[in-house]
Amino acid sequence: MRKPQKADGRRQKADGRRRKAGAPSSAVRHPPSAISNWWQHYFDAGYLREYEPMFDLAGDRRQVARLMDLLGLPSGARLLDCPCGQGRHAHLLAEAGFDVDGVDYSAPLIERARARGAGRTLRYRRADMRRLPATWTGRFDAVLNLFTSFGFFADPADDARVLREFARVLRPGGVLLWHGGDRDGVMAKFVSRDWWTTADGTLVAQERSFDPLSGFLTVESCWRGPGLTEDRTHRIRLYTPTQLAELMRAAGLIVEQAFDSFNDRPVGRRSSEMLLVARKEP
Ligand SMILES: C[S@@+](CC[C@H](N)C(=O)[O-])C[C@H]1O[C@@H](n2cnc3c(N)ncnc32)[C@H](O)[C@@H]1O
Repeated sequence: MRKPQKADGRRQKADGRRRKAGAPSSAVRHPPSAISNWWQHYFDAGYLREYEPMFDLAGDRRQVARLMDLLGLPSGARLLDCPCGQGRHAHLLAEAGFDVDGVDYSAPLIERARARGAGRTLRYRRADMRRLPATWTGRFDAVLNLFTSFGFFADPADDARVLREFARVLRPGGVLLWHGGDRDGVMAKFVSRDWWTTADGTLVAQERSFDPLSGFLTVESCWRGPGLTEDRTHRIRLYTPTQLAELMRAAGLIVEQAFDSFNDRPVGRRSSEMLLVARKEP
């Protein structure tokens, strides 16, 4: 059985049960104004439930091992995980000996991250990735932007602004690791409907559409579970590797390597996820 796939390219672990075509799809259609700032409220306990099958410690450890391999930095190096969500990578990177800052806009997710542990070499802060602290200029050896944490804003200029912020807080020669959906691959294998059940028996059904002009992938999710009925919509602007490399170059970040997700093989035209390694110009 094919593993459920998130439409933005993130692959779902198969421990949730997947249903056949024709599953419930009663997602509410929100007007564009209601959705433009979806990212301000979407990332909460509901998000953790929706993607629960994808969050597993063994998988996180494998990803962190790959990230460390790509970075090749000594212990004590300064890393920024932005946005860090519930801290699944930040926590393991600090455990591995790095000095880590995690930034996220979501108060509930930052709270989850802190609950897992914070301290002298692992600090969490609530902030908007478009405006990182002014005192962080040139501070980091590496910035990590993982799990399609990009393309959220209504105005594409804000995506460019995020990359400029990443470049600003990197030291010259520092590295940005960017991981997320690859528009080429997502289009090549477009999954317009998908569904699975979470551990508490909640059925999650997603219906996806794509607008080639804006590049927005819109995902309408409907949850039906014990005592739970909710419909939500979110959207992400997907980029091709070419577009993203150009956007990064404009911010002073030069893509040196491009992989098929966390695998040690080059990104291909059917890669639904990509991992770009970009270096700040010295
Ligand atoms: C798909 S999650 C990924 C989080 C984390 N990188 C991971 O791998 O689990 C995207 C994250 O982006 C955060 N986010 C959304 N908009 C943001 C913004 N403007 N500034 C900072 N974080 C933001 C969300 O709160 C959420 O935690």
